[in-house]
Amino acid sequence: MKKKKVALFGFGCVGQGLYDIIQQENNLPFEISKICVKDPQKKRDLPNNIFTYNKHEILDDQEIDIIAEAISDDDEALEIARLGLRNGKNIISASKKMLAENLTELIELEKNSQGSIIYEASVCGSIPILRTLQDYYKNSSIYGLFGILNGSSNYILSKITGEGLTYQVALKQAQELGFAEIDPSLDVGGFDASNKLCILARHGFQLPLGTSDIFQFGIQRISEHEISYAVKKDYKIKQVALLRKTTGGRYLTMVMPAYIQEDSPLYQIDNEYNGVLLQSNFMGEQLFTGKGAGGHPTGWAMFSDLLAMTNGYHYSYNAGSRDDTGLSDEDFSLNIYLRCESDTVLKELDFDLLEDLSLGTSYRFVYGSVRLSNLQKFKSSEHFNAVFLTLDLQHLLDQLERPSEKSSVVNEIA
Ligand SMILES: NC(=O)c1ccc[n+]([C@@H]2O[C@H](COP(=O)([O-])OP(=O)(O)OC[C@H]3O[C@@H](n4cnc5c(N)ncnc54)[C@H](OP(=O)(O)O)[C@@H]3O)[C@@H](O)[C@H]2O)c1
Repeated sequence: MKKKKVALFGFGCVGQGLYDIIQQENNLPFEISKICVKDPQKKRDLPNNIFTYNKHEILDDQEIDIIAEAISDDDEALEIARLGLRNGKNIISASKKMLAENLTELIELEKNSQGSIIYEASVCGSIPILRTLQDYYKNSSIYGLFGILNGSSNYILSKITGEGLTYQVALKQAQELGFAEIDPSLDVGGFDASNKLCILARHGFQLPLGTSDIFQFGIQRISEHEISYAVKKDYKIKQVALLRKTTGGRYLTMVMPAYIQEDSPLYQIDNEYNGVLLQSNFMGEQLFTGKGAGGHPTGWAMFSDLLAMTNGYHYSYNAGSRDDTGLSDEDFSLNIYLRCESDTVLKELDFDLLEDLSLGTSYRFVYGSVRLSNLQKFKSSEHFNAVFLTLDLQHLLDQLERPSEKSSVVNEIA
């Protein structure tokens, strides 16, 4: 059988990871015919004639069936996806920010294209979560999804709380290991997790969620107060992303640092590992975990997409035309830990103080409850960048009622 021709865009951490994997596998139904990169001056380990610096050499080549894109330029990645679909190419992408921001347009383009676009590598590296949502959970009623979606933040938090590294040293390590984005504020600020949550929302819940719909708080201002409290209580701190159906059938969503207790399924997910916990009727809770970043784990997700695509795999979007984000307008009360410098913040947030954990006089470290709408408003406060918020995840999960299952069978435990 004639092998399909694949062109790579990008030969950095992920592109090289994918290339390595392809080199180690035999009898593949495809072969790499071209690699498009940006910098002609860069020294590469492969012969010059495989590289191009002109995207049209690939996009206009009728012989090329599949484009595997892993570049660090989101505008260009979008242009490649648009032109590729218009030219009937099949596309595999790892560019999560580009995808999260442009999925609606790309899904529309795909409808009128001979080609299709799939993007397992864009969410949680090696965990086949999009394929699982598409194929295994299709038509099932998932009512919640939460987890650790950003490998670099998890790496940094694991090293700070577990090994006592400083934030700066842990961040540098994450960058050196290829886990962090070129702009690490995307990781530590919660933007990357929000992008992934938007992509997951499409496939798990048919929700066209945008990042601005998500209450997002980063980990970059974590201090010794939050850390020593975690150590004292045997908690871990994780950047948690959450999307959960509420009793009104609409959704609550956020990305925030959270204290995780020892009995939580997320507790053991450390370093660059990611974990996605799905809550669904009939199946209960299922946790998917694996390496969430790095060249080979992410390259593997692209490799798996390449194999799937050569077999004609494509996504289906059940209710992609919904023009409503499905978000809840219910005002939730969240229990959080707040570190701030003055009582003004407590007043501004209308914070219901439950416990004062402050040990010094130069700061307040308190536990209490706050309305989500007040947190949203607080984003534009002059004090927003001088506080640290840590969610009591367990309290929130306990508060959210599980939707009832209609059942004619007695739920027996053997
Ligand atoms: N690293 C991870 O663990 C990971 C995980 C999941 C998803 N991703 C996503 O995958 C994408 C690539 O990440 P990476 O870590 O592999 O980045 P990277 O190591 O910085 O490599 C980026 C590659 O993109 C190429 N490139 C940049 N602009 C280009 C342009 N305009 N045209 C053609 N090539 C261009 C670069 O070319 P030169 O070689 O000439 O500089 C380089 O080969 C990003 O969207 C990232 O968010 C990364």
